Amino acid sequence: MIKEAITMHVTIIGTGRMARGISTRLLAGGNHVTLVGHKPGEAEALAEELKGTSKGGSISVGKVGKISGEVVFLAVPFGAVESIAKQYGEALAGKILVDITNPIVYQTMESIFPGSSGAEAIVKLIPESTRLVKAFNTTFAGTLLSGKVAGLPLDVFMAGDDVDAKAKITQLIEAGGLIAIDVGPLIRVRQLEAMGLLHIASQQLRNTGYMSAIKMVA
Ligand SMILES: NC(=O)c1ccc[n+]([C@@H]2O[C@H](COP(=O)([O-])OP(=O)(O)OC[C@H]3O[C@@H](n4cnc5c(N)ncnc54)[C@H](OP(=O)(O)O)[C@@H]3O)[C@@H](O)[C@H]2O)c1
Repeated sequence: MIKEAITMHVTIIGTGRMARGISTRLLAGGNHVTLVGHKPGEAEALAEELKGTSKGGSISVGKVGKISGEVVFLAVPFGAVESIAKQYGEALAGKILVDITNPIVYQTMESIFPGSSGAEAIVKLIPESTRLVKAFNTTFAGTLLSGKVAGLPLDVFMAGDDVDAKAKITQLIEAGGLIAIDVGPLIRVRQLEAMGLLHIASQQLRNTGYMSAIKMVA
């Protein structure tokens, strides 16, 4: 029996490279995307650029501090997260918050949170009812445009404590032609953030122009 695809309404905070990549995959899955920028014109420009790529989904521009739909992606530098958590406050209550950030000190290529993780720090900043899922921090923005590297669909590793929230993010990932790999509860984010850091550091050494992917094969 063919499963009917369930489309979702997703807000993306940020209008940079990852916002473009993730929006492209969400639109390919027929979802409805609302982009929120923090400087005038940026969200409008990205929405205009991506309009033509929408396959059954739609893209629009939202207002700062407002969330449309159940799922919201934080497509911003880790350093911006605290102020965004304050700015959105209770608007995040009951939502699924997807943290894609890599909290790295780029001068030394070390984690900002040795022995812990950025996601665990974010949980302390958001309403108790917000369900955090870490995902997409190991996939490079440029590779999300086609969703493939070397002809193979990208693996999107994710972790979080809420099983229902991870099931919904799995649907979004799979509808966009990617493979979702649930690696377990929030504590596993420590390893996912280390994977993200290692991927960045190793692609720099191999000079692959941020167009590589981490793949699990069996
Ligand atoms: N690039 C990748 O391949 C990749 C892969 C995995 C994970 N990530 C993670 O994804 C996140 C985004 O990376 P990116 O490459 O997309 O970065 P980017 O291209 O620099 O985009 C960042 C976006 O965040 C916006 N922003 C910054 N401060 C903000 C604030 N206070 N409120 C609202 N928006 C704010 C920026 O707007 P302005 O430009 O107007 O300031 C920009 O639209 C980072 O945490 C990164 O670690 C990136």
